[in-house]
Amino acid sequence: MKNKFKYGEASLIDFTKAINEYGWIVYENALDETFVDEINEDLIRAYEVRRQVQVKNGISINMEGTLHHLIDSEGFGLKFLGQMFCDQEMKQFLKGNYVVNAFGGVMNAKGNTPYVQNIHRDIRSFMGDVKLMVQMMVLLDDFTEENGATYMLTGSHKVDEKPDPEAFYAKADRAVAKKGSIILFDSNLWHAAGTNTTDKLRRVLTLSFTRPFLKQQLDYPRSLGYDFGESLSEELRQVLGYKSRVPANLQEYYQPVHKRMYQPDQG
Ligand SMILES: [Fe+2]
Repeated sequence: MKNKFKYGEASLIDFTKAINEYGWIVYENALDETFVDEINEDLIRAYEVRRQVQVKNGISINMEGTLHHLIDSEGFGLKFLGQMFCDQEMKQFLKGNYVVNAFGGVMNAKGNTPYVQNIHRDIRSFMGDVKLMVQMMVLLDDFTEENGATYMLTGSHKVDEKPDPEAFYAKADRAVAKKGSIILFDSNLWHAAGTNTTDKLRRVLTLSFTRPFLKQQLDYPRSLGYDFGESLSEELRQVLGYKSRVPANLQEYYQPVHKRMYQPDQG
């Protein structure tokens, strides 16, 4: 049994075994270097935009280096989602079509203490064996113990209770992997970001995907615009949630099946 593979070389059976047993799996070499550099470059712009809103609204404490909702018409978000990384694995895990629930990122720097360093899981309600959500981390720098590679408590996706910190830090594995890797993990898994003691940033994208009937953390179809959705591929319409929208009036509700806001294949 192992939970580290080259992207594209693990079968769906390997995936299922690893995520069931360990609660997490690493795929190396998923993104090429050019795309990682493009993302890192765009994060600088994206951070400025988000930071201004955090500061203006008085919620900037403990938010240093965190970015949320990296989907807009100009940035890298749509290009990333359009590549459908780990599509078959997530379909297998969630037993069908899925949507992006949240698309965030973190730029961990020395001295930062953002909330993601607390021991937590990414879904508030424990799901047990009912899989509604899956997490994805996209490594934009090499993850090392020195720069704060995430602590992952292997096997803890099977346990509801929060582990006590002493046991957690004694037993947790570190998500040490190369830039360009993707890590998928069960949303029930207890984890915590580590502390960056180096002078360089440790950057990562953090995404969650759910079955389409769960509310997204931001209404991406409304945020991008329903008209904008008309120009997108079927895959992007699916993952952004255009096929699982909530109608807001009778005109939107009473439509023939092919035009319905909530499509029949969305669970
Ligand atoms: Fe997390």
